[in-house]
Amino acid sequence: MRQDDGVTDRDDLPLDPAEPVPDPAAMRKHYRAEGLAETDLAATPVGQFARWFRQAATEARLFEPNAMVVSTADAEGRPASRTVLLKQFDERGFVFYTNYDSRKARDLAANPYVSLLFPWHPMGRQVLVSGVARRTGRDETAAYFRTRPHGSQLGAWASAQSSVIASRTELDASYAELAARYPEGERVPVPPHWGGFRVAPRTVEFWQGRENRLHDRLRYVAGQDGSWRVERLSP
Ligand SMILES: Cc1cc2nc3c(=O)[nH]c(=O)nc-3n(C[C@H](O)[C@H](O)[C@H](O)COP(=O)(O)O)c2cc1C
Repeated sequence: MRQDDGVTDRDDLPLDPAEPVPDPAAMRKHYRAEGLAETDLAATPVGQFARWFRQAATEARLFEPNAMVVSTADAEGRPASRTVLLKQFDERGFVFYTNYDSRKARDLAANPYVSLLFPWHPMGRQVLVSGVARRTGRDETAAYFRTRPHGSQLGAWASAQSSVIASRTELDASYAELAARYPEGERVPVPPHWGGFRVAPRTVEFWQGRENRLHDRLRYVAGQDGSWRVERLSP
C-alpha cells in the first residue's frame, strides 16, 4: 500500500506490520535553484571549504558538519569507508585523529591515497576531497590529545580499535582499570598508537544540487607549482 507521504508497507520484510517502511524510491527532493558559479569561488579549495563549512555550521546548523566519510584502500585495492570527525583544516590539509593500529591506519600505511566526503544533504551539498594522508607530528597530536575530555583520553587507551574482542565486558573492564590508574585530574599520557592524519588535497569538488538534476560540480585540481585550476564537471 502506497501512502501519500511516500511510505510503503512491505509485507516481505520481517518487521512489525504496524510499522510502515519508507520506500527509498519514493523519496525525491528538489534541490535549490541557487547555484555555484566559477566566479563565486574562493582562490583556494580550503578557502572555499571554509565558506561552506561556516554556512553548514552557522546558517544551516547541521548536526556535526565536521563528520566526514573517509575512504581508504588496502595494498590490494580493497576499499573501506567509515565516518570520522574533522578536527582541523588549513592550507596544509584536513586533519582527523584515530588509532594507528586501526584498519584505516593500516590501509594508509600501505596506500596513502584517501578520499574524504562531507555529506551535507540538508543543504543539497557535498564536498569531495581526494589526496594523500600523512601522520601529524607527535607534538601536534599531543597538543590535540590534551584538549580531549578525560574520558575520551582513557578511551583511546582502552580500545584496540578494529580488533575483534570477546565481549563488551572486556572493553568496560579495560576502561575501568585505566580509570582507576588515572583518576579525573591525573594526566593521561598520549597513547603511542594514537594520533592524527593530515590529508593534503589534490582535488576538491564542491557539489551543489540544482533543479532537474542539473547540479553544479566545480573541482579544484592542484598544479605542480602549488596553484589551483578549476574545472566544471557534468552532473
Ligand atoms: C559521527 C562519527 C564520528 C566518528 N569519529 C571518529 C574519529 O574521529 N576517529 C575515529 O577513529 N573513529 C571515529 N568514528 C568511528 C569510525 O567510524 C570507525 O568505526 C573507527 O574509526 C574504526 O574504523 P576502521 O576499523 O575502518 O579503522 C566515528 C564514527 C561516527 C559515526
